[in-house]
Parts: sequence; structure tokens; C-alpha cells
Amino acid sequence: MKATAKANTNIALIKYWGKRDEKLFLPMNSSLSVTLDRFYTITTVEFNESFEKDIFFLDNVIASDKEVEKVSKFLDKVRIAAGVTYPALVSSENKVPTAAGFASSASGFAALAAAAAKALQLDLSGRELSVLARQGSGSACRSIYGGFVEWHKGIEADGSDSFANQLLDENAWDFSILSVLVASEQKNVSSRDGMRQTVLTSPFYKGWLDTIEGDLSALRDAIGDRDFDSLGKVMESNALKMHGTMLGAEPPILYWQSGTMDVIHHIQLLRSSGIPVYFTIDAGPNVKVLCMPKHEQIVYESLIKLPKVKKVFTCHPGEGVTYL
Ligand code: DP6
Repeated sequence: MKATAKANTNIALIKYWGKRDEKLFLPMNSSLSVTLDRFYTITTVEFNESFEKDIFFLDNVIASDKEVEKVSKFLDKVRIAAGVTYPALVSSENKVPTAAGFASSASGFAALAAAAAKALQLDLSGRELSVLARQGSGSACRSIYGGFVEWHKGIEADGSDSFANQLLDENAWDFSILSVLVASEQKNVSSRDGMRQTVLTSPFYKGWLDTIEGDLSALRDAIGDRDFDSLGKVMESNALKMHGTMLGAEPPILYWQSGTMDVIHHIQLLRSSGIPVYFTIDAGPNVKVLCMPKHEQIVYESLIKLPKVKKVFTCHPGEGVTYL
């Protein structure tokens, strides 16, 4: 009863921001992401009735009690589905530069869900696996698939229709995603707390929800037409709107630093010089920059020269969950 799975992380082009059910990780809005090729988690799960309790190794080090509790709580869902109570030995290797603002929770829970379900021979469909991964971290449901992925928010109270599916595979359209590191310290408001605070207090949150369907439909069209400029424009405005909702929260949430603004201004400058390049920002100060592969080198070289930029990681669209 042992299996190993690998899942890549993903970056949202239309963001998930806000939950309608915190326990089941049900979102207020649908979202759309691209799975990346370079950053991933590999997880092995072994269930054995002779084990005394769940044990969790993260990068070969025994994890904190808090981390073990999170994993155990998640594994309970898989155990219930399989009708067993065996403890598990979980070992995860994280190849995600968390300091670069890439969420390791997406690849982490996608790999854990896939390995645990396989180890217990649950034989889940992609949709069922996505529903399971969602209950560890919302964005994890999108990492089940490669390429462009939409997470449908669903309307059912039990979350059975809140799942992700693939719109276009990773080989259908290539572009470059540069993750620009301007700060590596831990942020002081997690995305989980930040979204809760925004939903509860921001007068702008309703405006966010009102524009989501329009943004999704414009992005789906851009993907269908392989229209990079339209994709970039919608992605950028969606990210700025998400940060706008946070600025209206009480107390306000501002993840950006001066380096964040420098990168934004630099992208605007590059664009005015004729290079199609766009940015998005998650719940942190670092910036993800999208451009066409033919401009990757020039964009990289100009970004790395900015005084507050510490590192730039380059990725491309990548595959969904695989079993090793
Ligand atoms: C800003 O999926 O990390 O990156 O569901 O509470 O685990 P939980 O949150 P998480 O939030 C991601 C927020 C975001 C936008 C996105 O990835 O869609």
C-alpha cells in the first residue's frame, strides 16, 4: 500500500480570492491557472496497519507537529473514502522556491492526494482527485492537470461540483513565466488569512466578484485564440483588482514592497518599447512576468539588472500529476 506521485505548482492568471466554505475549501469565485514545468513536489505515501501513527518527512527532516496534523487531517479524508484506518508514512521532497512566492501548498497537496489515493487503490477520476486535493489547499485542485486549467467554483454545499479541468494541454501554447524575487522573508499575512479578512471587511470585494465571469470569459477566448496580448491584459488587470480588494480590507493588506513597484514600472517601460510583457502578483511582494519565448532572454536580462531584484526563475507551462 505504497505509491509515489509528482505534482507541479501552478500560477493563477485569474485568481482565487475568498472562500464561501473554509472547511471544504469552497471558493467564492472560479479561477484559471497555468501549471509550471520546473517547480514540483514528489511525495511517497505508505499505509501500513503495523505503523503506530502518521509520520511525515519534509525534505528528509521530520516535520513539525503542526505540519503532521495538517497531513493527518487530509489523509483522514482518504482513509474514510477507502474504509481503512491505517497510519501512514509520508515523505515529501519540495522543489519549489517558496521564497520566490511560489505556493508549495498547491503542488504539495496535489502530490499528497494523488499518492495517498493511489496507495489505497481508490482509482479516482481526474475530477475526483481534484476535489480531494482542493480540500488540502484550494489552488492544489488546479495542479492535478497540466497546461491551462480552470477551477469551477461550483454551487453545491458539499463541494462535489467544485473541481478543476484542463482547457489546453502544456504543449499547445508555449510562453515564458519569469518569477521575479524582490523579497525572501516570510510574509506576515498568509493568503488564507488575507482572503478571509478581505471577504469579511472589504467594500471592494463585491466589485471583484462582479467582474470575475467577464475576466474568465475574456481569458478563455485569449487562450482559444492564442492571443498573448489579450491574455496579458486580462491577467494583469485581474491581479490588480485582487490587490485592490485587499487595500480596502480592515485592517488593510498591502503585500507590495518598493521592489514590487520597481518591477511593475519596468514592465510598463518594456511594454512601451514594444515588447509584449505582462505581470501578475499573488499574496506576496514578488512578481510573475509573462512574455513570449522569443523575448525571454531580453526580459530576463533587463529584470535581473534592477537593484532590488534578487533572483529571476524562468518557467514554461508544465504537465499535471504523474506517478513514479
Ligand atoms: C493569491 O490555495 O494557497 O495564490 O485554499 O487557503 O490553501 P488555501 O489558499 P491558497 O491560495 C492561493 C491564493 C492566490 C491565488 C491563486 O492561486 O488562485
